[in-house]
Order: sequence, then structure tokens, then C-alpha cells
Amino acid sequence: MRHLLTGFEFSQEEYLDILDTAAAMKKDPRKYSKVLEGRSGAIMFEKPSLRTRTTFELAFYRLGGHGIYLDLQNGDLGKRETIADYARNLSRWVDCLVGRVYAQSTLEELAKYGSVPVINALSDLYHPAQAMADYLTVREHLGKLAGVKLCYMGDGNNVTNSLLVAGGILGVNVECCVPEGCGPDVQIFDRANELAKTHGAVLRVFNDPSKVKDVDVLYTDTWVSMGDNTPLDRVRKKYMPYQINDALLEQSGASLVLHCLPAHRNYEITDEVMDGPKSVVFDEAENRLHIHMSVLSKLVENN
Ligand code: CP
Ligand code: NVA
Repeated sequence: MRHLLTGFEFSQEEYLDILDTAAAMKKDPRKYSKVLEGRSGAIMFEKPSLRTRTTFELAFYRLGGHGIYLDLQNGDLGKRETIADYARNLSRWVDCLVGRVYAQSTLEELAKYGSVPVINALSDLYHPAQAMADYLTVREHLGKLAGVKLCYMGDGNNVTNSLLVAGGILGVNVECCVPEGCGPDVQIFDRANELAKTHGAVLRVFNDPSKVKDVDVLYTDTWVSMGDNTPLDRVRKKYMPYQINDALLEQSGASLVLHCLPAHRNYEITDEVMDGPKSVVFDEAENRLHIHMSVLSKLVENN
């Protein structure tokens, strides 16, 4: 049984296969319209979503299957019945569980007690399908991934962790320029770094934004993630030096700017950059659909 819980589950060859399949599906989606015929999945969200929810539902539909959205925002998983029983029930009906959850452990539990593939649609620690769509977008624009240098600015979070994991496996040099004490998860970084070394890539974390130079891709995300109720203005002073604005963009030398979205305009990224010629944020959002189709086809079709 293959799951996508962390992004560590796949080899470089498998990542490239997922990206290649997504690219092929993007080019000719109708060719894949029966891949999941008669198959279905539960799409469970404990947190809000625009992109991930829409694109997972659409991905099922476009592959000929059916995604059933279960809104858990008013009643977290495990409250009405145990997570184990939840997984056992759903596994009798559907072929796959897609979950956006507060705690990574919830997904691990679904995978342990269910008998169908589980896909992480964002947790406190990872956003693996996001990172796949991000690297598909980078590859579309730069024509390659190995040796590319991506610099993530701002708060080290679930998205940062997944960029490190997938980047390390794909041979991308991933730098994180973050305020002191706001870096990515140390254990995930170390594990991703071991993989990066075997693929000729360098991962690094540093604090000084004036050192952001010779970069190919700049990336940022919100300074306050879902589940943390800190008002953005309370952290503004700490993170403002890490904002992606015209000056930083020029200093970095980057030719592409990515943001997983939703953006908090004029906080982590300025309007000028987000609406400027180097921004590919809506290509990135579009690619969520193609990656989800590819991931679903790999995990569900042959299960
Ligand atoms: N990037 C992303 O996951 O967006 P949503 O929160 O809207 O799904
Ligand atoms: N780090 C953000 C990503 C949103 C897609 C969050 O977890 O809220």
C-alpha cells in the first residue's frame, strides 16, 4: 500500500514519473478520463481551502472517479468516533482518503487503521502535493530541476518542510532565509539533507536577507499558518525584512517567484512582485490540479 504522507515515500525516479505524468495529463486530459472509472475517494478537511479542495475534487472527476467532500471544520476528526473507526468505515466504501488535518499523527493513524491509500493535503508538518506542483511549475519555466537554486523567504512551516523534502530528492538546492528561531523542522531538514547529498544538492538555512544572492527561484508563504491565531500585524516587524519585494527580487537575481497561496498581499509579498512578470503563482495554482490527477492515478489506480 503506497501513501503520500510526508513526501519521503518516493524515490527521485518516482517523483520524476509523477511530474512527467502530470505534464502529460495537463497536455491531453481527455486521454485519462477513465483512469479512475468506478473509483472514489473521501476528501476530508479540518481546515479551510480553496485550491486543494477544488483541485482534488476536480482531479477525481477528470479521471472518471468521484471525490466525496467531508467538511470537518465544525467537528475535528476523532471527536464523534475514533480516528481508527473513521478510517475503517471509509475504507469499506472508498478507494482513497485525502486529508487536510491539524496534526500529522491524524494522517498516520488513518493510514494505520484504514486499508486504502492516504494522501496528505496539508498537515502541521507537510504539504507534499503542493511541493510537487511547485517543482512542476519550476521545471516548466526553467526547463530543469537538478542544480536549480530556490530560496524560501519568511516563516519555516509545512510548505518549507515539503519544499526541502521534494527539493532534496529532486536535486534542487533549497535555501531557507528565515528569522532566527523560525526555521523549518530540524528533523525533517536533516533527513531531507541526507537525501539531497545523494542527489548532488545543497540544503541550507540562514537568517540574513542581504545574503540572498544568485538565486533562480524566490518562494514565500504566509507568516502565520492556519491553526495559529496570532494576528499578522503582531509578527510584521519580525518578518518584514524577509518580504519579497522589488528590491529583494533584484538583489536575488531570481527569474521566477512562487507562492503557494493564499497570499497576504503587502505582507510576505508585494503587489508589484505578485502581479509582476516574474510571478508564476497562478501557473503554480493551476498545476495543483495536474499533480493531484497524477498522484491519484499512481496511488489509486493500481491499488
Ligand atoms: N496552497 C493551498 O494549499 O491553498 P488552499 O489552502 O486554498 O488549499
Ligand atoms: N503554511 C500555510 C500554507 C497554506 C496553503 C498554512 O499551513 O496555513
